[in-house]
Parts: sequence; structure tokens; C-alpha cells
Amino acid sequence: MRLDRLLANLGYGSRREVADFFPSGRLTRSDGRAVTSATERVPQAELRLDGEPLDPPAPLTLVLHKPVGVVCSHDGDEGALVYGLLPPRFGKRHPALSTVGRLDKETSGLLLLTDDGGLLHRLISPKKAVWKRYEATLARPLRGDEGALFASGTLMLDHDQKPCLPARLEVVGPRMARLSIVEGRYHQVRRMFAAAGNHVESLHRISVGGLTLGDLAPGQWRPATAADLAAVENRSPAGSP
Ligand code: URA
Repeated sequence: MRLDRLLANLGYGSRREVADFFPSGRLTRSDGRAVTSATERVPQAELRLDGEPLDPPAPLTLVLHKPVGVVCSHDGDEGALVYGLLPPRFGKRHPALSTVGRLDKETSGLLLLTDDGGLLHRLISPKKAVWKRYEATLARPLRGDEGALFASGTLMLDHDQKPCLPARLEVVGPRMARLSIVEGRYHQVRRMFAAAGNHVESLHRISVGGLTLGDLAPGQWRPATAADLAAVENRSPAGSP
């Protein structure tokens, strides 16, 4: 691929804007020699823009710790967007990055973004059974029957046509529980607890498949490694038996 196209696809500017990087000497090899033409053949890993390595090429997946108060949307007037946590050029990449499913505005935790359509499909399809695990703080003490209700495969949520697929509940305390689900319906965890007569006061996603946030602080992100992607698709919630 021509280097001007590569740089434009990575979001560094339009084809016209990145054309300026060549005569200005901003684009170099790792040894500092300028790359003066878009047709030069230089491996991407060797390229530097203003001395910095380039962002990873597609396919790219990011692991992000979504804080409370940001919205998983490309636009809208509901407030700050999750994409605002990334460098602005990430919003101009081709192919574009999208969130893998959504966390609602008041939910924090592990969120993946990817430009890999195949991965996106595998992770959001309930048939692929990638477990998403949430920790919920509840307004009222658990009754005791929620585990059986959520595991039953018969729980109907308001306005839905089909019952929820079986889910797994772990009780952490009288008003705290972890719930693992394979679906990603609108506000699903909040609605499941509402259907059990409770109310979720705070919600945090702990894991997707076998991947957890590790030491990423709220608002921080990093590119997913091959090990992260293998962990995501191992199909069992991290830490569960
Ligand atoms: N369930 C919810 O209620 N909210 C989320 O953000 C994710 C799952």
C-alpha cells in the first residue's frame, strides 16, 4: 500500500494533508532517514512520524476501562462520548473502530472497540456464548431466589419476545452480586434485577470471556494483545469454576 494511503487510513490526515509529511521530513525510518516519497517501500513497524512509531494497523482492537458518564455512541447529545477518550485520529481510521456492544452511560468497566468485523460478530452473537460478567450493587437485599430465576431460561423481560438465556449469579453480599450473561440486550442486567423486584444502583463489567481489565484505570485504554484476544474468546467467565 502507498504510504499516503496508509497514513490516511490510520487517521493522520486526508490523503492531501499527509502528502505534506514527505517533503517536510516529518516521516522517517527508525534510523532517522527521511521518507521523501509515498511510493517508498518501508515496513510500517519502521516508520516514525515526528519521531514516534505509527499506531497499529488494522485489524486493531482496544481494551478500554469505560468510566461512568460516557456514552457508547459515535454522536448524539447525551454527553461525552467514549471515542473522546481516544486520540482524535482514532476517529478517522479506515476501517472505523466501533464498540463491541454497548455499556450504558451509568455502567463502568471493560469495553472492547474493534475494526475487525469478524471478531465483532463473534463477540456479540449469543450463539458464540462469550460470557460477559457484571458486578451489581443493589438497592435492596437479595431475596434468595434470583440465582434459580436467572438460570432458568424462562425469565421474560418487559417488551421482549423471548426469555433470557440462562445466566449465572454469584452472591457477593446481601446487596452485591455478580451476574454472567451471554446476551447483550438493552440494559439487560438492570432489567433482570428489576424483574426480580430489585434495582441496580451501580453496575460494572468485570470481564468479557476470560479477559479482565487488569490495572487499567477508568478512562485508560490499550491495544489488545494476541493473548487478550485469545482470553476474550475462551468462552468461560474469568474466575468462575
Ligand atoms: N446490562 C445493563 O443493564 N447495562 C449495561 O451497560 C450492560 C448490561
